[in-house]
Amino acid sequence: AFTIKKICCIGAGYVGGPTMSVIAQQCPDIQITLVDMNAERIAAWNDPDLDQLPIYEPGLSAIVEEARGRNLFFSTDVEAAIEEADMIFISVNTPTKNYGKGKGMAADLKYIELCARQIAAVATSDKIVVEKSTLPVRTAAALKSILHNTGSAVNFHILSNPEFLAEGTAVQDLLNPDRVLIGGENKDAIQALVDIYSRWVDTDRILTTNLWSSELSKLTANAFLAQRVSSINSISELCEKTGADVQEVARAIGMDSRIGSKFLKASVGFGGSCFQKDILNLVYIARTYNLDEVADYWEQVILMNNHQKQRFADNIIQTLFNTVNGKKIAILGWAFKKDTNDTRESAAIYVADHLLNEQADIHVYDPKVPSEKVFVDLEYLNSRPAAETRRLVSVSEDPYEACKDAHAIAILTEWDEFKEYDWARIKRHMKSPSFIFDGRKLLDRVKLEEIGFIYYAIGE
Ligand code: NAD
Ligand code: UDX
Repeated sequence: AFTIKKICCIGAGYVGGPTMSVIAQQCPDIQITLVDMNAERIAAWNDPDLDQLPIYEPGLSAIVEEARGRNLFFSTDVEAAIEEADMIFISVNTPTKNYGKGKGMAADLKYIELCARQIAAVATSDKIVVEKSTLPVRTAAALKSILHNTGSAVNFHILSNPEFLAEGTAVQDLLNPDRVLIGGENKDAIQALVDIYSRWVDTDRILTTNLWSSELSKLTANAFLAQRVSSINSISELCEKTGADVQEVARAIGMDSRIGSKFLKASVGFGGSCFQKDILNLVYIARTYNLDEVADYWEQVILMNNHQKQRFADNIIQTLFNTVNGKKIAILGWAFKKDTNDTRESAAIYVADHLLNEQADIHVYDPKVPSEKVFVDLEYLNSRPAAETRRLVSVSEDPYEACKDAHAIAILTEWDEFKEYDWARIKRHMKSPSFIFDGRKLLDRVKLEEIGFIYYAIGE
């Protein structure tokens, strides 16, 4: 049996940060050190001002306040933390490869491999190494090969423990998970991790499987979730042509207990760092095994999502009499969903980019996203010179300012505060006709039409 007194987690990002904070809160007797090579991020985690934490999640700052300095530490000294730890979580990013073989499809495993090599080089005592990052099935075989060929007498046990938290609800998801999944080969190592989670999670919600099932379940769960969004989004387009209302359709099918009501909200398209990356990865894996039908099947989920973003932007241009050149368009919401400051793969980026191709004058407001992030996100696409992006795009601190003199407003994130705005005041200061394109079906059509807006919503 293993006794876990010290945990190290490599990667203090959206997963490592909240996950380790909750484990530290629930297990005050275990010392947890989160390490990251990004010194700025670690400094932000250590900032006495809790508003400066690098990740915004409801409830997170209170947990950090409780555990930080007691049994939760943030450091850039990766080697020291590895050396001391009994258990090491690897929670580094696994983005889509943007070079070489598998470019645009496969997961880039360079960060994972670096971690394994660093652990192999530094460890002088036995370790349990936990894959927390989302990884292609059979990655554990590669980790094993790196860790077991060091020539030293140190033993390593590898576990797969994928994370299912969603951003914006990370703390709640961690405190009350639908399930915890642990894949592994060594019973004692598995039990050591079960013993940690079982401090606050019912044991009947802790599933143990073999390594490969665990790795593959994570990619599969995300593929199924994203598929539901693409499925309802495909129906939203048919609704717009036929007079059916996608919300009514979603409600009607969702009451079938075999279908279920969650994840049936039509939108401008799913975003976030996971869905697209993980499906591309699944498609890539299927192709490497020559399973072309399997690959094509899942690829369609992405193609549908790209189509949804594109057609939303096209509809704005068409409705504004086929030209948005020089017209001010306000974008409300830049984050990929509400209650997060994360913008990775946000639909807003692609909608804005498309409108910028038409030389629109874009004004963005988001309650949590720093203004510089908007520019960086657009520049990353490389669609035009940075100077042009900065000339065409402004970021406002105030939503009323963002909407002033606009021809149209596009709602791209479902932030609650948008519902509470004084829409009559916004209307008074806009150009006429005044259009709203609601990519989240957040607002009330009847109320807005009374005020005098021309209102379009996905799936209506
Ligand atoms: P992130 O980019 O927010 O954080 C990863 C961190 O790892 C970064 O701060 C980076 O500097 C650090 N890092 C990378 N290589 C390192 C190294 N060799 N040594 C030290 N630090 C290193 O990423 P994330 O969103 O936390 O995602 C991490 C993993 O979890 C990914 O595999 C992702 O697919 C998976 N995941 C993410 C979510 C989510 O909602 N974001 C949910 C479930 C699973
Ligand atoms: C997802 C998974 O839900 C989570 O289990 C996994 O660990 C990481 O990936 P996340 O990307 O943080 O989580 O958020 P999620 O709530 O799944 O939303 C993803 C995207 O889909 C968002 O852009 C959201 O707006 C969109 N979405 C979601 C819809 O458009 N309609 C829905 O019904 C649900």
